[in-house]
Amino acid sequence: MSHLLSIEDLDRAGIERILDRAESFAEVSGREIKKVPALRGRTVVNLFYESSTRTSSSFELAAKRLSADVVNIRAAGSAVDKGESLRDTVQTLSAYDPAAIVIRSPHAGTAALVVPWTDAAVINAGDGKHEHPTQALLDVFTLRRRLGSLEGLNIWIVGDVTHSRVARSNILAFGGMGAKVTVAGPPTLLPRGIEQLGAAATPSLERLHEADVVYVLRMQQERMESAYIPTLREYAQRYQINSARLRPGQLLMHPGPVNRGLELSGEAIDSDVSLIGSQVQAGVAVRMAVFYELLTVPA
Ligand code: NCD
Repeated sequence: MSHLLSIEDLDRAGIERILDRAESFAEVSGREIKKVPALRGRTVVNLFYESSTRTSSSFELAAKRLSADVVNIRAAGSAVDKGESLRDTVQTLSAYDPAAIVIRSPHAGTAALVVPWTDAAVINAGDGKHEHPTQALLDVFTLRRRLGSLEGLNIWIVGDVTHSRVARSNILAFGGMGAKVTVAGPPTLLPRGIEQLGAAATPSLERLHEADVVYVLRMQQERMESAYIPTLREYAQRYQINSARLRPGQLLMHPGPVNRGLELSGEAIDSDVSLIGSQVQAGVAVRMAVFYELLTVPA
């Protein structure tokens, strides 16, 4: 594998190989000296055209723990956008001969667009509403660690599916690992044709009790050009995941950042069924394994 643009770049064996390696990198993250020399002397560029806390910090830490030299560039809010200027930026940064370019952009397809402009391995850290493959890998890693396997698991993804790249990557990854995926939310936030990715879709939470795992999505208000729901208050009333809607034994996930009190209640976030902290922790080890796979394993 030369680039990671979509979860579809990986088959089940590929996902498992990365997760197995992530297990050994998780062990490194538990040491006092959290460093291995795998990428010593090599350069990683993190190019973020959209806001990020977890993804950018964990890619940075992952590269540093592998001993790479890391350049972090944040262009959110600047005039740099797409087309020529993106190409110029990538070609300029490629002059440093980076081994990898990690890119996040508000536009679907950006990571793939960049591939012909550089010799570096390109990693998609989220492209608009399209995909976020490393998020899906860390979510599978988190569930596999907790439950051993995803085979036969019933996973419900709830909320703003329309604007979520996490939903797209996770439907593919969860399904590929043997889980049964259902997406639920207001009809306006369930994109037409989502079933083609392999998920059932429903506007009702009536059967939520069937889920083993409830994966809640953020209401992505920054991507909503018009009104998709009557009011946020009504959304919370009908779709908020809280302790009244969860049954004992269900696990709770969210990619972050959470709108506390909107898609998820505060008490659910902080409850002991929440895997949100484990998801963040998994991010570093899984991204170390992705760098390792792309930069040290022969394609
Ligand atoms: C997600 C993203 O940016 O797509 N966050 C993340 O990477 N942890 C989800 C979101 O922004 O809601």
